[in-house]
Order: sequence, then structure tokens, then C-alpha cells
Amino acid sequence: MIETRPAVLPDVEQLHAILQPYAEAGVLLPRSVAELSENVRDFVIAEDDGRMVGCGALHLYGRHLAEIRSIAVDSRSQRRGVGRALVEALLGEARRHSVTCVCLFTRTPGFFGRLGFEIARREDLPDKIYKDCVCCPKLSDCDEIAMFQGKLAPNTNGLRDPRISIPLVQLKP
Ligand SMILES: CC(C)(COP(=O)(O)OP(=O)(O)OC[C@H]1O[C@@H](n2cnc3c(N)ncnc32)[C@H](O)[C@@H]1OP(=O)(O)O)[C@@H](O)C(=O)NCCC(=O)NCCS
Repeated sequence: MIETRPAVLPDVEQLHAILQPYAEAGVLLPRSVAELSENVRDFVIAEDDGRMVGCGALHLYGRHLAEIRSIAVDSRSQRRGVGRALVEALLGEARRHSVTCVCLFTRTPGFFGRLGFEIARREDLPDKIYKDCVCCPKLSDCDEIAMFQGKLAPNTNGLRDPRISIPLVQLKP
């Protein structure tokens, strides 16, 4: 029986153990134990009979946008609805905060497409670009697909830092 719950600090070592193989394989961004501890309140855990089998995080930018990150399911527990349960829990969390749009960046768009996400244009998500992408070595050669669910903020210009030029990012369809 799969259940989800908010993560707490004693979960951090196990969270790290679930994420680390995917970080080593280059599928997910590496997260140190210190970083996971700082952001543990973003995380939801999935348990199967009390055993941690997956995790995911929701990063809040504001009411206009949140981002689903670090979704990972233990390889032995995949294709049993754990990933779906995690995404649904994080979407519930976004609703609890009255967030109007949830985005993510992924190399597995098929999975998120099953869960109702659509492909977005990167330039519609400037919060993400300024938070992470501008520091990323893959800035001009990004292989992740931006997706969203909900209502994209209609005018994001006001959120942009005019010192950083969006066209720095190579936009892929
Ligand atoms: C992607 C991942 C989270 C999916 O988790 P999961 O528990 O296996 O997924 P679920 O069983 O909940 O699947 C939900 C639906 O998505 C589909 N699905 C699962 N993985 C998929 C994939 N890689 N591509 C396309 N569809 C996929 C399932 O068939 C299912 O569809 P259905 O409900 O219509 O039958 C998991 O494979 C994983 O941890 N991968 C490694 C880390 C990763 O890639 N994370 C996402 C990066 S942002």
C-alpha cells in the first residue's frame, strides 16, 4: 500500500540514498545531505508498508509558480503508481498554497504527460531560468524539456531581472 507524507529531517539520509543513483547517472541534479536538510520541508516521501520507496519536492516561487523537482522512485518500486502518487501529493501541496501554475524540467516528458503536464516554452518560466539555469553549465545546451500544468503567468516581464538577458538561453522547441 503506497502512502505519501511530508518529509522530516530524520528522512534525509534515506532521501539522499534514493536520489543518489539517479544523480550519479546524470538523470537528476545531485543534492548533498546538507542541501536536502535545508530544503527538507519541500519534500514529500512515498512509503510502501512503511519503507521509503520514492520522493519528490515542490519549490515555491510565489502564488504564480511552483516547480516539481527531484522526483525519484526506487528502481525496484517503479511502474506501480509511486511516481503518480508523489506528483499528485505535490500538486495537492501546490493547491494548498493557492499556486496557479506548476512547472518542471525533465528528460522523461512521457511520464509527466500522463499526469496532465504540457510542454512549455522556457521563456515563459523566467523564475526557473534566473534561479538555476543561469548557473548551469548546460545553459546554452539544455536537454531538459520544460512542462507546466495550470495557468502560466500572462506577463512575466515584471519578474525579469533586466541585467540578465533571456536570449542567453538557447531555446529548443
Ligand atoms: C519517472 C519515474 C518517477 C516514474 O515513476 P513510477 O512510479 O515508475 O511511475 P508510475 O508507476 O506512477 O507511472 C504513472 C504513469 O506514467 C507512466 N510512466 C512511468 N514511467 C514512464 C516513463 N519513463 N515514460 C513514459 N511514461 C511513464 C506509467 O505507465 C503510468 O501510466 P498509466 O497510469 O497511464 O498507466 C521513475 O521512473 C523514476 O524515478 N525515474 C528516475 C528518475 C527520473 O527520471 N525522475 C524524473 C526526472 S524530473
